[in-house]
Amino acid sequence: MGRGVERLRDMVANLGPALVTAVPGPASRALIDDLARYECPAITARRARRAEETGIDQDPIVWDRAEGACVWDVDGNRYVDLSGAFAVAGVGHCNPRVVEAARRQSGKLIHAMGDVFPSREKIALCQKLAEITPGDLQHVILAQSGAGAVEAALKTAVMATGRPGVIAFQGSYHGLSYGALSVTAYRRSFREPFQAQLNPHVIHAPYPGEDGPLGGGAAGAEASLRWIRHLLEDPASGAAGIGALIVEPIQGRGGEVTPPQGWLREVRGLCDAFGVVMIVDEIYTGFGRTGRWFACEHEGVVPDVMCVGKGMGGGFPISAAIGRPSIMAGWGESRGEAIHTSTFLGNPLGCAMAMAAIEAIEADGLVERCARLGEHLEAGLGALARRWPARIGAPRGRGLMLGLPILSEAGGADGGSAMAAVSQMLQRGYLLLPSGVHGHVLGLAPPFVIGVDQIDAALAALDEVLAGILGA
Ligand SMILES: Cc1ncc(COP(=O)(O)O)c(C=O)c1O
Repeated sequence: MGRGVERLRDMVANLGPALVTAVPGPASRALIDDLARYECPAITARRARRAEETGIDQDPIVWDRAEGACVWDVDGNRYVDLSGAFAVAGVGHCNPRVVEAARRQSGKLIHAMGDVFPSREKIALCQKLAEITPGDLQHVILAQSGAGAVEAALKTAVMATGRPGVIAFQGSYHGLSYGALSVTAYRRSFREPFQAQLNPHVIHAPYPGEDGPLGGGAAGAEASLRWIRHLLEDPASGAAGIGALIVEPIQGRGGEVTPPQGWLREVRGLCDAFGVVMIVDEIYTGFGRTGRWFACEHEGVVPDVMCVGKGMGGGFPISAAIGRPSIMAGWGESRGEAIHTSTFLGNPLGCAMAMAAIEAIEADGLVERCARLGEHLEAGLGALARRWPARIGAPRGRGLMLGLPILSEAGGADGGSAMAAVSQMLQRGYLLLPSGVHGHVLGLAPPFVIGVDQIDAALAALDEVLAGILGA
């Protein structure tokens, strides 16, 4: 691509919001009406359902196209994406390298035969994943969703230890398919209807942090470690046969809950001491999101199995569980028919796009950029928190994975005000989502290619919106 075209792309990707209709506009509303007729009603984010839950009468917008940090809806409105579309668009929407790789690959080979007849692209990606992940993480199981990677990791732990028990954490989100849902403890409503079919060998320990029962800081970390040790060493804890511990280095959907420095390293030590497979779920935090390639690197921790997904494919649904050879050896040698595989495992189009996304991160210095912009955004959020010290908690998270907790006058979680802020930001052309088990955290996970001007304009808009909600 010529330099002129590249500059033009950068300019487009760095534009601010431009709204030409009410939000949502007529085209979005009509399409959502159609969708509501044909999609399972529990899934469509309809106006009526949102109104019931949040008091805010607002249909979703329908996306048409996206580039860099900008998204256009079907009415022609342009938004700045502060959500990274569930923290997926780290390299930016329709990153030119990823688009080019998809074009090239789709004219050549879209589908191969996973574990039976793999493609060159699958092999290259496995090698690259081994290169960029820390320590001796080397053996890869590819999957198509975060949940799929989590389930591959949980199976790995059983194969390696023969023990069915798992320690997971309260507030965690690891996906919603049955295996992943049994370790997820984000909202009770997600689990309740399926409780009878969930793995009964999972125990959820409290996660250290402001929102949980243990609190944050050194005391929270210490209390959490006592809990984990107790579960592991006391047969009366009800947790006999623990073979795995699964943890997010920062809880993403749980509200950007960031454990105290040193905690993850101590957890690593406990896993070593008790022969437990440590699974670190980097599906949200991985591929540069926290200002390092992987969040566990902030702590110098090498997991036994790391799960990645989201930003990995530059927008293509692809994920992986990557393990140490000593742990993956638990699977044994293949006897001709893989006991863990799927039709689309190692899909060449996805592998080519993932490789291009990794190359974009490397070539454009996006990990460093994410760290730098993260500091800038965090400083801006900190200024907002100081403006309303009683109603806004300190910003949390790392890199461009940040959360701003909104509190009630009594100091509790204020999900209503957070949802109102999200909704009013949408009306101003900014996309973001609430996070946290109480929905009270404004979650920010923009593409790493977002511009400083876009961040500053978003902070100014948020300042005005919060003034309207919390009082000037
Ligand atoms: C940390 C983490 N793990 C797993 C998942 C599940 O990923 P998916 O929705 O692709 O199954 C998510 C999704 O938000 C996540 O944040």
